[in-house]
Amino acid sequence: MTWPACGTETAEPEPGPELLPRRGRDGSFSLYSVACDEGFHSAAGALREANEKFVVPAALERFVPGRELVVAEVAVGTGTNTAALLDAATTAGLGLDWWGLELDHRPLALALADAGFRAQWSAAVIGRLEGLSDGPRLWLGDARRRLPELLETLAGRCDLVLLDAFSPTRCPELWSREFLGQLVRLLRPEGRLLTYSSAAAVRRCLLELGLEVRAIRPPADEPERWSAGTAASFTPLAPHPALRPLEPFEREHLASRAGIAYRDPSGSATAAEILERRRREQERSAAPPGRLPRRPGRGGLGHSGGHR
Ligand SMILES: C[S@@+](CC[C@H](N)C(=O)[O-])C[C@H]1O[C@@H](n2cnc3c(N)ncnc32)[C@H](O)[C@@H]1O
Repeated sequence: MTWPACGTETAEPEPGPELLPRRGRDGSFSLYSVACDEGFHSAAGALREANEKFVVPAALERFVPGRELVVAEVAVGTGTNTAALLDAATTAGLGLDWWGLELDHRPLALALADAGFRAQWSAAVIGRLEGLSDGPRLWLGDARRRLPELLETLAGRCDLVLLDAFSPTRCPELWSREFLGQLVRLLRPEGRLLTYSSAAAVRRCLLELGLEVRAIRPPADEPERWSAGTAASFTPLAPHPALRPLEPFEREHLASRAGIAYRDPSGSATAAEILERRRREQERSAAPPGRLPRRPGRGGLGHSGGHR
């Protein structure tokens, strides 16, 4: 049996064993993609990850209660980030004008069919997710194709953009310079892009696009990790306990071969083509190899940390 390649759009996706249910250490519902050979969330758990990497760094306390936030989410998947944000926004007295891009309707359908997933959320949140799953704000298809259409409606309007694609080596099409360049056009000047990725290629692109970049701090009980992701904005990010400036060793890493961007000028290259193009560019580059220096008492994460 062969599964559709990672990131392949299928006209009529049918539920199948290529998406395997699993639970993280926090007990929350997640999926494993056989085609991508990667989990939808880290082993710590979907719920924990949603809060640590998206909800807390979103700093909803910045907004006056009653405000409706405009949010665009790339790679909606099981809807865990959506649900966590809806939940936190409700608690903070905020509304959400939510828009999502996703290739495959099955992850959200599988989550909504799972009793454990449903038990994670209030009836109101489940009701909103059900409404989104077949509503006009969830745009199905390759995000590269749908993003230009979304920009027609949302350019310069988003308070938050959440990017939760499979890791850059699995799904480079959603981390290319071209895709990121379009994605950040969704942001209001004070809007914030959040992602779990700490990859040098992604951070360097965001800096080159004119954004300020901060690291998302890993949780205190995981001291071996140096970063839990990246927050970026066109205006300086206010100090926040979940965020820190990039450290000198991280900036150095951006200048290495690991910082060479994924490129997809046509917007339709396959993952293999994008990876091969970058490999060749890295080979030709005079930049030093992308090895993160080890810091005393902490482990390095290889050349592009933040992968699932
Ligand atoms: C890591 S999972 C997303 C996890 C999700 N945020 C959650 O909380 O469950 C990556 C998602 O990206 C979707 N995807 C893969 N390639 C895509 C593409 N080209 N355009 C849009 N979505 C894509 C997959 O279907 C999958 O649901």
